[in-house]
Amino acid sequence: LPSQRLAGRHVIVTSGPTHEPIDPVRYIANRSSGAQGTAIAAALRDLGAKVSFVTGPAEVPPPAGVDVIRVQTAVEMRHAVETALPADAAVMAAAVADWHVTNAQDHKIKKDAGGMAPSLQFAENPDILAWIGHLAQKRPALVVGFAAETDDVIAHATAKRLRKAADWIVANDVSPATGIMGGTENAVTLITEDGAESWPRMRKEQVAAQLAERIADALDHLPED
Ligand code: C5P
Repeated sequence: LPSQRLAGRHVIVTSGPTHEPIDPVRYIANRSSGAQGTAIAAALRDLGAKVSFVTGPAEVPPPAGVDVIRVQTAVEMRHAVETALPADAAVMAAAVADWHVTNAQDHKIKKDAGGMAPSLQFAENPDILAWIGHLAQKRPALVVGFAAETDDVIAHATAKRLRKAADWIVANDVSPATGIMGGTENAVTLITEDGAESWPRMRKEQVAAQLAERIADALDHLPED
């Protein structure tokens, strides 16, 4: 039997993209399969955690044995995360769209006979990681974010850790040459207050299993509430 070292712990995991509507049939989104977030939720479940899995419309199905909360937009995702609190840890693996369309239409936008393209207006979405990291009350003891970078991975991810008040950032190099985007493997660097730790390239399930063990290590040093 696998050890249940996260029994009695509650972890919130966000995963997948968000879809920000333009009209009833169109949306903007980031590219995200949801594979890494799904693997993390499954790994936490395997260690006995109660997992609230807040997912946008991902390509991969959610794991069994977790509480699945399906959302479309970033605003819905933030609200679902808030509703799932309190939690011992939060892992924000979703590829949240940075903007939503403020002039979204209730009816399908028709092509203009004169060839005029519609113009979209954008407003910034809530940054769910920064919001939870900066929570005064109900902040999970351990807040973990991700950083997909194409250059200066460690410098950018370290800055992101501080800016978003995360405890850890799991950074990965998503430059096209790595083939990581949409693939089955990941090569990550774990950024903590102690520095940067590069892990060898491995399957996303293995990254998830190691991360879940590290989360259990960290929570071992904290009281259960
Ligand atoms: O700033 P950037 O999008 O690169 O940060 C990535 C991290 O922040 C990820 O953990 C992602 O889930 C989280 N994030 C979020 N809400 C946003 C944007 C990013 O939770 N609106």
